[in-house]
Amino acid sequence: MIYTKMSADEAAALINHGATISVSGFTAAGTPRVVTEALAVKAEKEHAEGRPFKINLFTGALTNECVDEALAKAHAIDRRMPFQGSPAMRAGINSGEINYFDMHLSVVGQYVRYGFLGKIDFCIIEALDINDEGEIVLSGGIGCVDTYSQMADKIIVELNSAYDTRIRGLHDIYTPATPPHRREIPIYEPQDRIGSPVLKVDPKKVVAVVECNYRYGVKPFSPIDATTAQLGRNVARFLTEELQAGRIPPEFLPLQSGVGNVSNAILHELQEADEIPPFKLYTEVLQDQVIDLIDLGRCTFASSGALALSDEVYDKVMANIDFYKQHIVLRPYEISNHPEIVRRLGIVAINTALEADIFGNVNSTHVLGTKMMNGVGGAADFARNAYISVFICPSVAKGGNISAIVPYASHIDSSEHSVMIIITEQGIADLRGKSPRQRAECIIENCAHPSYRPLLREYLHLMDGQAGHTPLSLHHAFAFHEEFMRSGDMHNVKF
Ligand code: COA
Repeated sequence: MIYTKMSADEAAALINHGATISVSGFTAAGTPRVVTEALAVKAEKEHAEGRPFKINLFTGALTNECVDEALAKAHAIDRRMPFQGSPAMRAGINSGEINYFDMHLSVVGQYVRYGFLGKIDFCIIEALDINDEGEIVLSGGIGCVDTYSQMADKIIVELNSAYDTRIRGLHDIYTPATPPHRREIPIYEPQDRIGSPVLKVDPKKVVAVVECNYRYGVKPFSPIDATTAQLGRNVARFLTEELQAGRIPPEFLPLQSGVGNVSNAILHELQEADEIPPFKLYTEVLQDQVIDLIDLGRCTFASSGALALSDEVYDKVMANIDFYKQHIVLRPYEISNHPEIVRRLGIVAINTALEADIFGNVNSTHVLGTKMMNGVGGAADFARNAYISVFICPSVAKGGNISAIVPYASHIDSSEHSVMIIITEQGIADLRGKSPRQRAECIIENCAHPSYRPLLREYLHLMDGQAGHTPLSLHHAFAFHEEFMRSGDMHNVKF
């Protein structure tokens, strides 16, 4: 090997205060661990000795406890983008300590290549193999590493021996050209391959190879409960009715399914829905449930940015990797989420909302308008360009004290113009072609929890007799949220 081998501590010592670090991977899959863990220890030591130490951190999306959690706990982050899901990072963002730039994932690569986010000093890449020509076999997650490795001054490779290199061939790495030279991205079917099975980096930029051995430890999802099961059945019913009405063609269309417990439950229900023919996925992240769907022949092909699988399911995939290579491709998320392809393939996008308002605006990110949950991720990349864009959520949260259907969303990630369908366990609201007042009635009567419907109707009628296209009472728009902050229960609201 032509590269310099180092320990994690030695590699972390190369990184100075103020540096901008980027990492490979998407979720815990493909995300490095040992160098950032050593960096967190270095930061604590520097702080203890009275010196400042903070870095800027660009990731694929959410990471693992050795990246976001360790660095946030060490107070070692200044600027962070584009998505996170760690308790310590969330706390740092919401306290104002960490400057978080929440981004649509499809544009992260081009922002970096266009120079919008400044210079990147280091790219830390988890690799299963690297040869002297700089060809890297990645593992289960790609994220934005194609661009990060191209734009970073220096590369540190974590060579992880815990995973099998027979995964080579699952990846398809392609980076679009920069305007005015960009051409179409030639994907016409989810299974089309257009790039390289390996990540190619400049070997001269590789300043350290750190040998390591770790597993991702992706946590399994919460068990499916009665609410999420009913939500899943409602999604299946909606898709079946669209098919029967001829609004989805008989051969069906590729599905995109969001992240989290609710999305996992939806995929479980699609396993049972015989009225829906076997389908393809063109999506951002593959969770455990998709492997069951492939095994059962319900999902015939899945294109994704990551295999965010529990260890048990990942091992099952690796034991039969030749079979899964015929059914799965992994892409950088610039491609898995690309608007051009989402629109061309006619993707039916199903994403999760924290809350939706009666006019169809969706909040996926900010609790009570202020506190960051995770980030917008790829939800709006898909929603804005989908053949049909569906948002789902349970009708209530926190034991019923929060209504997910509110008079006005306290933050808007996908506006009424990008949201076609809202589905809760209560039912389906089809917003296509409806005016704001019609949408409000449709959402209240079909999606809101029955215990909140009288309050929402009362809100809607506050503006009766007044002119205006949208019957929004500015004065009371956030009455539900204010009531929750006051008494801990939105049911107590009084207009
Ligand atoms: N107000 C306050 N809290 C709410 C809420 C609301 N309206 N709705 C849900 N919550 C809370 C839940 O109580 C739960 O809290 P807990 O962790 O303390 O139990 C938490 O939010 C997560 O809710 P859950 O029902 O388990 O949902 P989930 O795991 O399916 O995640 C999102 C939902 C919206 C947070 C998640 O899908 C997300 O981050 N989406 C944005 C990115 C995205 O969609 N990416 C996909 C593109 S491919």
